[in-house]
This record gives sequence, structure tokens and C-alpha cells, in this order.
Amino acid sequence: MKRLASLTIALSLLGSPAVAEQPTIHVQKTATCGCCAAWVAHLRKAGFKVRAQNVSYERLALFKREHGVRDRYASCHTARVGGYTVEGHVPASQILRLLKERPDAIGVSVPGMPVGSPGMESGTEREAYKVMLLKKDGTARPYKSYPASR
Ligand code: CU
Ligand code: CU
Repeated sequence: MKRLASLTIALSLLGSPAVAEQPTIHVQKTATCGCCAAWVAHLRKAGFKVRAQNVSYERLALFKREHGVRDRYASCHTARVGGYTVEGHVPASQILRLLKERPDAIGVSVPGMPVGSPGMESGTEREAYKVMLLKKDGTARPYKSYPASR
């Protein structure tokens, strides 16, 4: 009982509000993609447990199709968390928002590889980009917009 109490204290210390522990996110990527690894590091920093798996380009393309990512919304890596698909360089804050709001949707995507999105940093420069909410009917709508900055 005493051990349990100290364990509880230890866990509550670990769960400081700065980096609250987040659910496990499963990432599929290709082995040679550097920006994918940088995005995984961004997720870990935000408190996510990440299980990253390197797969072939063909397997990754199939995974995207299986999880509702149309070509026009595709990026380099594809992830699954809490029943949702997360495609490309989506900021951790928007994944947390998705998991909190739980919209009736497939998931979210940052199509392409915009400079300045998490894992695509280049100094302080950022091109304007949008996180899209992928809907079950195949359409999408903007979920969050980031303006350009330099
Ligand atoms: Cu990338
Ligand atoms: Cu990637």
C-alpha cells in the first residue's frame, strides 16, 4: 500500500502540465525520410508515445488508401491515433485538439510538405499552410490555418 502511494506520487510528478502524457500514435514512414523522423521527434516532445514503423513506399501508399487519405491530401508519412488518421506534418497541438473534439471524420492532414510545419523547419521561415479535416464522404475542410512568417 505504501509502495502504491509513492508510485502514485511519482506518476503525478511525471504528469506535469508542461508535458502531459499523450496516447500512443502509430506512424508508418519510409526508412530514408528525414523529415518524418523530425516529425516523430516533435510528437515525442509534445508527450506522445510514438511507435514508428519503416515500410516500403508501396506498403505506405496502400496504408494511406486503407485509411482514407486521398492523393490530393497525401504527404510523406501516415499515422493512426485514437481511431483517426493523421497524414503528414500535422502539429501535435492539432492532434490533441482532434482527440479532444472527436469530430465525425477520418482524421487530419497537412497535404504536401510545407516549409515551417513541424519536422519541416527551415530557420524561422514558414509558408502558409492548412491542416485539413478529412471527412468520411471524401471531402475535406480547413481545420486550422497557419499564416506565412519569416
Ligand atoms: Cu515530410
Ligand atoms: Cu514524413
